[in-house]
Formats: sequence, C-alpha cells, structure tokens
Amino acid sequence: MHDWEWSYHDYRPEQERLREALCTVGNGYFASRGAAPESVADAHHYPGTYLAGGYDRAKTEIQGRVVENEDLVNLPNWLPLQLRFADGDWFNPDQVELLDYRQRLDLRNAVLEREIRFREPGGRETQLRQRRLVHIEHQHLAGLETELTPCNWSGSVEVLSALDGRVTNDGVERYRGLEGDHLECLETQAVDVDGLYLKARTRQSRLEIAMSARTRAYRGEQPIDLDARVETEADQIKQRFQLHLDAGQTVSIEKLIALYTSRDAAISESGLEARSALTSLPRFAALRESNALIWQQLWRRFDLELGLRDDDDGRTAAILRLHLFHLLVTASPRVMDLDAGVPARGLHGEAYRGHIFWDELFIFPTLNLRLPEITRSLLMYRYRRLGAARQAAREAGLRGAMYPWQSGSNGREESQTLHLNPRSGHWTPDESRLQRHVSSAIAYNLWQYYETSGDQEFLSFYGAEMLLEIARFWASIATYNQALERYEIHGVIGPDEFHTGYPDREEPGLSNHAYTNVMACWVLCRALDLPEHLPNERWDELREQLGIQRDELEQWDRISRKLRLCFHDQDVISQFEGFEQLDELDWQGYRERYGDIQRLDRILEAEGDSPNRYQATKQADVLMLFYLFSTEELERLLTRLGYPFHPEMIPRNVDYYGSRTSHGSTLSRVVDAWVLARRDRQRSWSLFTEALESDVADIQGGTTSEGIHLGAMAGTVDLIQRCYAGIEVRDQRLWLNPALPEELQRLRIRLRFRGQTLELDISHERVRVRAISPETETIRLWVGSEACALRAGETHEFERKDNPAFVEAP
Ligand code: BGC
Repeated sequence: MHDWEWSYHDYRPEQERLREALCTVGNGYFASRGAAPESVADAHHYPGTYLAGGYDRAKTEIQGRVVENEDLVNLPNWLPLQLRFADGDWFNPDQVELLDYRQRLDLRNAVLEREIRFREPGGRETQLRQRRLVHIEHQHLAGLETELTPCNWSGSVEVLSALDGRVTNDGVERYRGLEGDHLECLETQAVDVDGLYLKARTRQSRLEIAMSARTRAYRGEQPIDLDARVETEADQIKQRFQLHLDAGQTVSIEKLIALYTSRDAAISESGLEARSALTSLPRFAALRESNALIWQQLWRRFDLELGLRDDDDGRTAAILRLHLFHLLVTASPRVMDLDAGVPARGLHGEAYRGHIFWDELFIFPTLNLRLPEITRSLLMYRYRRLGAARQAAREAGLRGAMYPWQSGSNGREESQTLHLNPRSGHWTPDESRLQRHVSSAIAYNLWQYYETSGDQEFLSFYGAEMLLEIARFWASIATYNQALERYEIHGVIGPDEFHTGYPDREEPGLSNHAYTNVMACWVLCRALDLPEHLPNERWDELREQLGIQRDELEQWDRISRKLRLCFHDQDVISQFEGFEQLDELDWQGYRERYGDIQRLDRILEAEGDSPNRYQATKQADVLMLFYLFSTEELERLLTRLGYPFHPEMIPRNVDYYGSRTSHGSTLSRVVDAWVLARRDRQRSWSLFTEALESDVADIQGGTTSEGIHLGAMAGTVDLIQRCYAGIEVRDQRLWLNPALPEELQRLRIRLRFRGQTLELDISHERVRVRAISPETETIRLWVGSEACALRAGETHEFERKDNPAFVEAP
C-alpha cells in the first residue's frame, strides 16, 4: 500500500456511504463528503456539505412531547455534474460495465480522485477522471475537474452542472423521525454567461448561505465556446451544454464554486461575495497547486515518520496520515478565524448532529504539539460560551460554570432527552447530559494548551477565568458527608455511558464517580495554583471580578483534599460507589448469542434489561485516570485526597476494567492501548491497531458512514507521539520517556514546545533531540532520569544503556 494515499480499486455501492465519509475533503471552514458528483441521496449515497458552526434548530413531536434538536446543517449540494454520452442514459456507475475503477485520496496534496473506464450497453468505452478539492487557504473555494476521453467513439456529451438546494439532514437513519428540513431557498439566478448562483437560509438560526458556480470546458489550454442554457427553479439552478468529443482526445470540464455565509468576516453581503468571486476564479490546476503548497507546509508540521518492521505493508502509516488529514479537514489553520469548536464526528456526516463533546481531550494533544494556535481558537469557542455555562450552573442551583455535554451554536445543552434504540425501536430517556466531567476536560485541555504553548496571554485573559469558574462549579456541587468527613458528588454520569443510574432507583445519576471526583480535585488544585502562573495584577483583577474571597479558596483547598473515592478488592478504584455490588455479566454467553456486543446497552434494553445492573462498561472510565495522568501525578492526587497509592494498583485496575468493557466507544481502545503501553506492549500494539481500524474498517458496523470518529483518529496519532514516544509536558518542562513497541523500530517527529521546534529521532537504542528554530530560548528537557538544557540549534543524544529510565518493561 502506498502510505501517502487512501485508495479503493473497485466499486461497491454498499460501501459508498462509508467511503464518502472517509474521502471527505475540507478546510476547517467547510467540508464535503466524497459523494460522486452524479449521485443523489439514496440507500447507497449521501452527498453532504457542512460548515463549521453552521447549526440550525428544529422541533419535532415524539410520543406527545415536543423535542428540539440542533443540527449541523447539510448545505446546498455544489457537486452535481451529470454526463450523458451521445444518445445514451445519464452516466451512472451502477448501469455501465466498469472496466477499471479507482478512487484515491491523495493525502499529500489533499485531492480526491476517481478514475473510471467503462463500457455502455451499446459498446462505447469512455475514460473518466475526476479530481476535487476544497481549498485549504482560499477557504471559500472548491473545485471539481472532470476529464473525459472517449476510447473507441466520437460524438457528443451533454453536461448538466447544478447547485442543488433541495437537501435536508437525512444522513442518519435513527434520526429520521426527527425534523431535518433546515433550509429554505431564497434565490437562484444566472450570473453572466456561465455562472450559477443560489442563496439559502437556515430556518431558525437565519444563517444565509450563498453559493456560486462556474462551469467551463477546455481542450488542453483552449476554452471551448459553450452554448449553455440555464434552468432556474426555486430551489436549484442548472446549467446544461453539449460538447463534441473526438476518440482518444481529452476534454476537461471544470466546475469551481464559491461558498460564503452571512457570518463571514470581511464581507458586505454573502450573495454579493459569492457572485463576485466568480470573476476572479483561476483554472482548477492553479487552485490545485496553491492548495498543495499549503498542505505540504502542514505536513511538514504534522507528519510522523515511522520505521516499522519489514512485514508492515505501509497500511499503518497510510491510516495515521489519513487520520491526520481528517483532523486538518476539520480543524485546519482556517478555524483560527472562526467561532467554531471541533465536532466529535468531524465535518464528515450528521451523527451526533455535529455537536462538540469531551472528545477534544483526545484531539487537542496532537494540535498542541504541532500548531497550538488551532487549539487556542477551539478553546476560545468554549470561552465565548462561558456565559451559557454559568447560566446552566445557576439554573441547576449551582455556582460557577457547568459546560454542556453536547455543545452546538450558543453553548446551551444540546443533548437529546430521548434516544432511539434502533435494535428495539424504543425511545428511551437519554441521561447523557449528566456527564458533568466535560467541564473538567475543558479545564484539562486549557491547562495542557498553556503548558505546551506557554501562552501566558491566553491563560491570563481567557483560560484562568474558565478554570476558576469550573473549579467553583465543582466546589458547589460537592456536598459534605458529616459521618464520613468527606465531600461527595452525587447525580452524575461518567464517560461510561452504560451506567446512568442505580438499578433500584428512579432518579438518574451516580454517586462518587471516581473519574469525576479525581478530575474535580485536579481542577481545584490547578485553580489554586493559578496565582503562581499569572501576573499579580491579573490575579487580583480576576479575584475582584469573580468575587473570589480567601474563604472560597480555603474551601476549594479543603474539598480538594477530601473528595470521596470508593475502592473494592483492596485497591481497585470503584468506578462509582456500589459498582462492585452490581451483577457480573455473562460476557461469553452474550458474545456467543450476539457476536458483536460493543453496543451491549442496546442489546440489553431490547431484552427488557439494563446495563445499569451489571459490572459492564461501554468504554474506559476509571482507566481514563491512567490515561491522563502519569504515575507521579496520580500519586500526588490520591495522596492529597488521603488515599493510599502504589504503582502496582495500576495493573490491577487495568485488568479489572479491561475485562469488563465492551469498547462500545471508539475512544475506549485508544485509552486501553495507552494504559498497557508500558506493561504489555504486544497487547497495547494490538489495541492500537484495532483503534486504527475503527473508521477505515467501520468496526462499529455502519457508524463511520455517518461521520468519522475524530477523537479516535487523533487519539491514534497521539498514541504514537505522546504514549510510545513517551512525551509528557508537565511543570513547563518536556519529559521524554519512550517505550516503543517491538513493531515500531524507529520514529521521527517534529514538534513544537513553547515556541521551539524540536526534531525527535527515537529508536529502541537511543533518542536524538534537535532544537531547530534558531531564534528561541533554551528549553529544559528530561529524558528518562537525565536532564538537559537544549539551546537553539543544538542536538542531544541519549543512549538507552546510560539511562535507567529506558529499561525495557518486561
Ligand atoms: C461516547 C462518548 C463520546 C461521544 C462522541 C459516545 O459514543 O461514549 O464518550 O464523547 O460518543 O464521540
């Protein structure tokens, strides 16, 4: 396999929706699924174009209740390009004989290509080559180039190019009972001789979307005179023309589009901008070139060079690059100018309605070490919604900021209240909004960003305020248990979504959830540390502004030492109070009966049972603690809380929970692979390879076609960079403690740490670190137990044999 491309060599209609998601091209501002230009939404195809932050709300009545959902809106489709050869039917790969079929996502240059040689029923053979891109720098532009070569015939081709506003949000089957009609078309109009224009508006959020297209044809460099006819309807606009084709001669058709919205910066009116963009469009080749240049610059920052064992065929590197590619399609440098968060399913489909979850926790580390400016902008999305988070806390009778589990346009809680189990057809209550740990993830993310980038200004003016308000929230939700002399947190849910409450209780929520409580302790500690990180003047301003008095800080300190954790079997951290009293699940029985039991919750509900009754988890929950914190940090936290900690606890907990999870979330294997990295390298690598396959092999059986799993995608890259390379950023220092698995012989990466660019070359024998930016300050680096100060331009090499911290784990 070529490790700079993701390709398919056959046409399988039943796989098209999956491939569309995996072949999405985009630029962080908007993205379009890799649907074929002749396709329409049907059982096998789903054209979709999504704008970062392009949400709309709609109401539906379900079971006598009106529910309101906010969707990332499927925008008008810019792709339609239909071809009809001579007197034949409109081209459709399902109705011709495919002699050759190849689809290829060129990752280096960010171009999606499709090459087809086909024979029509009358014997005509034609070669079709299409390339498309969404420009990574000129964020409003995208293009589709179609090259046609008749192999054994000459004659005419009819071309129909359109902008189609008749689209709805209909990409996820289980949402079909909910209103998905978000767009109304405002106008369609021809522009000059070869331009099309369409403007639509979202029904509730009143976001105007203006699209224009120019379709031209060329013989080599020569434009062909087209006698185009425009057909205008209320919600679509088409341009139709005929071309003459000569056997063996190639004609190319270029459709370039511009997309503007009423939220864009530096515009007069979106329609005006879209229309006038048509006058200065270059040729497709020029767009391809300038797009490739920026992508190459991005790859310089983002690429990983893997030295894998000889038996690797390039698939691992190709998938990792595909993951980095989709990370950048969703969160490219273009987002720096936008008010947008990073949706869990990318800009690649409609699952989870384009909402933003805690998945940022898995996504930001890769950005932090490469282009932290992107993280900063994604954190600003959270900062701008601090008001909504304060309001949510107030409405719950609490203080501080309570961020929503699912976030969309204005930071209101967007989690649904009812949830459809496709297995049983039942609508059941959805309690996932009780995942209060999302606020801690935001605090953790902003702190990691600050530590990695050294961005004092961000911490001072945005980060600190969020951190303090999240700390205040935890302090206000904690209640004191006099008898135990401990603070407790009740009524929450953890990352493991199988457990939403106690089997014998009506009201949802769990008590003393370990991950939640340890994270709350960590947040309180960081908030208490803030004065050491902020200029005095700013700290005083913040205290004044937020009304933080000494006694409040003392209370935070007390709570951070006294939050309650539960344990069982001596040193297993109970996922929540009472977890060990739940029944054990007959894992083998369920596997035998159902095969795939990743979504055990749906299976049990359909059986009239509930996962709340079992010690069975959807995804890593307690293990998140070993994922996020180093042994030393966790020891500090548990000791502060007054609980014993010893490193042998880690394998005991990993084994206990590892054997009780169904990995129903793609995030789960990333965490498991991480926590096993130093103890069982083989198992860790095998979980890593399973995580790698999550989307490309659609291991959840149908979910990837509804959008990629960006957390798992970025998480696999992070496994290589932070976990196996052992990169940790703590106390404003960089720590390196590599533990490469057998399969990975060598690893070369470039990273940015506090403004400095470093090149790491890691093998099983040594680590070489080079500071390559000439202008920056000395950085303090620890490799195993060796410290060094690295000055700009210097290289340091550390041999494993000299360094006890490098000792191979058994
Ligand atoms: C997982 C969550 C995750 C969400 C969005 C769910 O299936 O359980 O942890 O945040 O998907 O990716």
